Amino acid sequence: MKLLLIGKNGQVGQELQRTLLPLGELAALGRDGLDLGDLGAVQRVLAEQAPDVIVNASAYTAVDRAESDEAGATAVNAGAVAALAAYARTHGALLVHYSTDYVFDGAKDGPYREDDATAPQSAYGRSKRAGEEAILASGCRALVFRTSWVFSSHGGNFIKTMLRLAGERDSLSVVADQFGAPTSAELIADVTALAIAAYRRGALEGGIYHLTAAGATSWHGLASYAIERAMARGAQLKAGPAQIKPIATEAYPLPAQRPRNSRLDTSKLCGALDLQMPDWKVHVDRLIDQLS
Ligand SMILES: NC(=O)c1ccc[n+]([C@@H]2O[C@H](COP(=O)([O-])OP(=O)(O)OC[C@H]3O[C@@H](n4cnc5c(N)ncnc54)[C@H](OP(=O)(O)O)[C@@H]3O)[C@@H](O)[C@H]2O)c1
Repeated sequence: MKLLLIGKNGQVGQELQRTLLPLGELAALGRDGLDLGDLGAVQRVLAEQAPDVIVNASAYTAVDRAESDEAGATAVNAGAVAALAAYARTHGALLVHYSTDYVFDGAKDGPYREDDATAPQSAYGRSKRAGEEAILASGCRALVFRTSWVFSSHGGNFIKTMLRLAGERDSLSVVADQFGAPTSAELIADVTALAIAAYRRGALEGGIYHLTAAGATSWHGLASYAIERAMARGAQLKAGPAQIKPIATEAYPLPAQRPRNSRLDTSKLCGALDLQMPDWKVHVDRLIDQLS
């Protein structure tokens, strides 16, 4: 089986470079090997590689920048995805793709299920939903994993930013009225490999699945927990958990609107694969250990 990983240098892509290895012959490309903004290059690379499985871990993930560059976000998150789906449909390949909690408006009282109505409130969310729709409309074989609040030891993310700021400042103000499940790129990549293997042996149907860690917290809860753990591991930080001030979303205005409720119900995927998602703290602990 030939697998093509696109976006090998992102948080999830880095981890997929490891977890996809046992599944077959893996070719992994970064932006320098394939720019998804160039549809001609997409066609050329697919023809050259002739993959049985395409795993697309690349995306336009600059949520706030997308507000002033919706065309750019849509080109990568939907236009290129439509081209990948068309290839998969024509050649009988499996397309594995990632989407986001931002396809929802966050107004639901409780975790979102896969069949809940989408209502993206941001340009990024609209572009990601358009990518999902392009895959579904193509009729290709596909696994689409919606995830949330991704972190890893590679690249930049919220936890690493909070730890850096806590080392520089005496106190921090962090949004406390948005809730979601911080999810490690490790977990996403581990479950992706399990899901591809299950799909290949006919034990998993194609479609959209929610893939996050268990439990939920706010950004304030996540920052406080990560800082507490880092200090317990000996990090010298100026701001401890008691100096992390909870604030409302309105007190920290950003260009893109975020969902208040980002919680995703993972029971469809857990049931199909007989999995139990670890609590979000488990992988935050692992990250702090790796950074220590
Ligand atoms: N991060 C989150 O909190 C989050 C939450 C929910 C869902 N997701 C979804 O999960 C998936 C993985 O996210 P992630 O956190 O791993 O993202 P990430 O760390 O931002 O990585 C995205 C990768 O895509 C690449 N990329 C961007 N534009 C490209 C283009 N035109 N051509 C080729 N490559 C391009 C980036 O390359 P450069 O490094 O060169 O820019 C980067 O390596 C994405 O589908 C994302 O939408 C993420």
